[in-house]
Amino acid sequence: MNVRFAERGALGEMSAYRVTESDGAPDSPSVAFDLSSNELALPPLPAALAVLREGLSRLARYPDPTARALTEEIAAHLRLTADRVAVGPGSAGVLQQILLALCGEGDEVVYAWPGFDAYPLLVAVSGAAGVQVPLTSSGDHDLAGIRAAVGARTKVVILCSPHNPTGTVIERARLHRFLRSLPDHVVAVLDEAYVEFDRGGDPPGRPQVLRAHGNTVVLRTFSKAYGLAGLRVGYAAGPRQVIAAVRKTALPFGVTHLAERAAILSLHSGAELRARLRTVTAAREELTLEIGKLGLPVLRSRANFVWLPVPSAAESLARAAAAAGVKVRACPGYGVRISVGEAEAHRRLLEAFGATDRGNWF
Ligand SMILES: Cc1ncc(COP(=O)(O)O)c(C=O)c1O
Repeated sequence: MNVRFAERGALGEMSAYRVTESDGAPDSPSVAFDLSSNELALPPLPAALAVLREGLSRLARYPDPTARALTEEIAAHLRLTADRVAVGPGSAGVLQQILLALCGEGDEVVYAWPGFDAYPLLVAVSGAAGVQVPLTSSGDHDLAGIRAAVGARTKVVILCSPHNPTGTVIERARLHRFLRSLPDHVVAVLDEAYVEFDRGGDPPGRPQVLRAHGNTVVLRTFSKAYGLAGLRVGYAAGPRQVIAAVRKTALPFGVTHLAERAAILSLHSGAELRARLRTVTAAREELTLEIGKLGLPVLRSRANFVWLPVPSAAESLARAAAAAGVKVRACPGYGVRISVGEAEAHRRLLEAFGATDRGNWF
């Protein structure tokens, strides 16, 4: 029997997140190294692993629906009160909560493009329309262009710093000027999924940003620097009223007990975190240098990935990498993004790129 139903609004034009990727899944035999998702090529911090083993015996129980212990730890870490923090299943999950809480049909969400590939889908799920503002030729946010795109229907502006996929950051003075310039009816979401790789540690939030701007929500994750991508836990910090609304759109029990415990222990592992960040950022600088030596364009990145602005060679370079057993992220028409990974993965990649036809790079 045929089921008759109508998909809501823009959903009809969207695909499920990375639905076409299952053939290139990390456990597929042809992928020896997966450098396509900006994961950490290291296991979770030792303290987090130990607490996970203990937590397995509690799996028959639901977690704390409010994830209070983690919320309080994060609030203390950021030097904020707990009513200004909301945790959720990954920062993508928290972003979905934010958009569902603030937007609906007829509203607009403005963000830079190319950007994190979940933004268009999450915006569509909220019912709002996405307004994409192209990055500048240096891979930076065009803040003037974004401001010009903000109108009466805009509910949210998403900024991402360091930016996925280019690794560029929005410098502090420009950020403050931009946030000050927004009209009262707009909330700015500052996605800082990669901030630890820029600062060499987990800074106590951007308290100055949150204090100075009552319209700004900072989004953070335990998936990247903390190496907990598989556990799904992230958070938003921002104005009380927005956070209260964001809690209402949460999936019940969305943050597991294991994720909550591991995140708390990770927050207490500052020294180990800084040591591994030094390793990752050193590998990033080395990879950037070696790619540059091949003659390929590569941006200076402040995240755990590098970006090659090669609009017409994105797919051919990704194919060359795949043939060498390394999965990278091609953004057709824009470039290639490569996560910092294992030394052997970098070696294979550089060899594969070196053997490609330079005539196709530009
Ligand atoms: C910019 C950005 N924000 C958010 C996320 C989502 O991370 P998670 O949902 O694992 O916290 C990612 C993941 O790649 C990202 O690149």
